[in-house]
Amino acid sequence: MEFDIADPKLSGLGRQRIAWADSNMGVLASIKERFAKEKPLDGITVAACLHITTETANLLRTLKAGGATVLACASNPLSTQDDVAASLVEHEEISVFAIKGESSEVYYQHIDSVLDMMPQMTMDDGCDLVSRLHTLRSDQTSSVIAGTEETTTGVIRLRAMEAENALRFPIVAVNDADTKHMFDNRYGTGQSTLDGIIRATNILLAGKIFVVAGYGYCGKGLASRARGMGAQVIVTEIDPLRALEAVMDGFRVEPMDQAASEGDIFVTVTGNRDVLRSEHFKVMKDGAILANSGHFDIEIDLKSLSDISEGNSNEIRPFVQEHRVGGKRILVIAQGRLVNLAAAEGHPASVMDMSFANQALAAEWVAKNASNLKPKVYNVPAEIDREIARLKLESIGTQIDRLTPAQEEYLASWTTGT
Ligand code: ADE
Repeated sequence: MEFDIADPKLSGLGRQRIAWADSNMGVLASIKERFAKEKPLDGITVAACLHITTETANLLRTLKAGGATVLACASNPLSTQDDVAASLVEHEEISVFAIKGESSEVYYQHIDSVLDMMPQMTMDDGCDLVSRLHTLRSDQTSSVIAGTEETTTGVIRLRAMEAENALRFPIVAVNDADTKHMFDNRYGTGQSTLDGIIRATNILLAGKIFVVAGYGYCGKGLASRARGMGAQVIVTEIDPLRALEAVMDGFRVEPMDQAASEGDIFVTVTGNRDVLRSEHFKVMKDGAILANSGHFDIEIDLKSLSDISEGNSNEIRPFVQEHRVGGKRILVIAQGRLVNLAAAEGHPASVMDMSFANQALAAEWVAKNASNLKPKVYNVPAEIDREIARLKLESIGTQIDRLTPAQEEYLASWTTGT
């Protein structure tokens, strides 16, 4: 079996931590049990380009239980948990190509190693695997029947490909399922981003001015968690509707030009580039902390930060790089990469349970329906979304009401008024 991981000796720790995550992933566990009996992915080689975490390990085990041959590489150079990679190789016979801290060059070599094994299905987080397939390896797209995509950024890239007629096989936008983005993006990113900032710096959030750039689901979750920790939160936005929502949710909304000189901590979650740039760095307070929780490391313009910095930057703690601008210190966490996965462990298992239940069921759905699908971006079918919500409630022991026959009739009628 081929693989490239940091250290096979870490496999024992990895197995223990994967089991801990599993104990909080009840929905995925029930899907795994069914997959083991029905084998819906029999004979299919799945290439998974995902963050290699304990939660992902449980998704990959589920796919394997469903009969798939599973190959994995990282979807970010800093997000791999090396013990998990080791356990997947050692205990699950899954070919993993991922090492925490790998260079960009090795990152793409790892994607190529997975693609060299000729997968028939892709499972992507950010669209790097699919983009590689459609650019440098386009001759290989005809052997891929379908794929899935985990994140907002990846879905945006896929829709751009679809609009240009560049997409060569159908892909399910897992991110757009309600049981994914309403929970993972909001509660997962909200908590794990603070976790990454706190682990890296051990700063007190109470009383700090915390600037959240972007008020999508990730920004909403982050802003509300930061407020819960006692920070004063400022939101920056480019979308009037979202800005208004932030105002009505009780946050201060300001342009970044104004917030830049006020904030103690800045976190970008926009999905766009250069959200923090030189004119902002120049007016920041001494000791300002900058982090990114968007998919790519483009939201903080690190090139211009390094251009205007005096002298060399220094790593003053693990994951904390100090720059000097106009004599003031600016601290960047995790090289501007996803702070929640680079400096912490990513979203907790119980929220990834729903995201990865969507991945597993979307894989089953595309495997079954691939021959009838076009090279387009598909949504997760609504029945799957609702079923995941139902299973999640069941797994946490929460019961809900049912409509009475009179209520059903009332909802179906249009004649009843006052
Ligand atoms: N994305 C965010 N958190 C994650 C996690 N724990 N595992 C995999 N992907 C993630």
